Amino acid sequence: MQPDKRTQTILDGFDTYFEGEATHLAIAPGRVNLIGEHTDYNDGFVLPVALDRDVRVLFRSRDDGRVKLYALEFDSWADFEIGDTKRNSRQLWPNYVQGVGLALAELGVQLQGFEGVVSGNVPRGSGLSSSAALEISAAKAFLTAANEIHALTGTQLARAAQKAENEFVGVNCGIMDQFISALGEEGHALLIDCRSLDYQRVPFPEGVSLVIGNTKASRSLAGSAYNERRAQCEDGVRRLQAVLPDITALRDVSLSELEEHRALFPALVYRRCRHVVSENERVQATVDALGQGDFRKVGELMDASHESLKDDYEVSSEALDRMVESMRSHSGCLGARLTGAGFGGCAVALVQTGTEKDVREVVQESYAKAMNVWAEVYISPPSSGARVLPLISGESDG
Ligand code: GLA
Repeated sequence: MQPDKRTQTILDGFDTYFEGEATHLAIAPGRVNLIGEHTDYNDGFVLPVALDRDVRVLFRSRDDGRVKLYALEFDSWADFEIGDTKRNSRQLWPNYVQGVGLALAELGVQLQGFEGVVSGNVPRGSGLSSSAALEISAAKAFLTAANEIHALTGTQLARAAQKAENEFVGVNCGIMDQFISALGEEGHALLIDCRSLDYQRVPFPEGVSLVIGNTKASRSLAGSAYNERRAQCEDGVRRLQAVLPDITALRDVSLSELEEHRALFPALVYRRCRHVVSENERVQATVDALGQGDFRKVGELMDASHESLKDDYEVSSEALDRMVESMRSHSGCLGARLTGAGFGGCAVALVQTGTEKDVREVVQESYAKAMNVWAEVYISPPSSGARVLPLISGESDG
């Protein structure tokens, strides 16, 4: 393998902290969600894309049960015995790795220790799933070190990583981020059914591109508000079950049913449910419009998603609204919306191919005027999901 610049930096890092050679490089991407926000934990549909930004673990197996990793950007170590259930209270990042190990062991995988270097270029805390990328790259490293790379499907890997985040790290996320990081495909979005975990590759058409704007605004509210939204959705389901006893999630409800039973809800809960139910419909409509090459329609659906997240689900923010407006102010922009949990982080725009750099310029200028902050703007093609590259010889897992 001819190392690229980033890999070379990681190889140099390995040389600094370990003797001898690493054998493998595990890579797992961050993601941007095209549409389908706050639907995953309601058993609904999402349409994410893997980014060309990722977390990489350069490693070799050990002949004991210890994991020893140095994270270049954090300038700190993870060092634990596989099976240890005590959290690291000084550093957060090692807990993602440790939790993944516990979840994999629970699935019956005979794990083996490994050691190496971790490095990522997914912006952290920006809603582009750097945590999922760390979890999935760690999961790949665990499986490779144990010589069990084919023991689990991508779906099982995603579930194990989600479990680690829910139960060990303590973040109550859905399955979307881990799923797309494990199973994303170059040139495609994935339509994921978050109930059955079936998925469909949706070709990302020529002629349009994705531009992502990072507001740089902190997502500090996100944790508590996220859990509050989840609870409001569950409340909505319980109320609907009085008249629709067979439903188990908002996924099972149509907009007309929701409207028909409006009297069952306090206004706030109704609006939360209306977002989720209408967003599921928008995901399906987006897949159809992409298939028909109707990019204007895709853009309109993204715009409508943002309005719904802002007014009904109330997870937007001043910064996100200004970012979306800045994006829409360029004529090459077909539609724009906040992406991820909300409250800060990033927005995504669908733009005509060829206008990406102009959109970036306009966004940076007008967002700076509105918010007095210089936004970071990323242009990423839909990229591939997690993989492991052998550095010495042998097969890659593809
Ligand atoms: C975060 C969570 C996902 C999903 C989104 C909102 O990214 O990790 O599971 O719920 O928010 O769509």
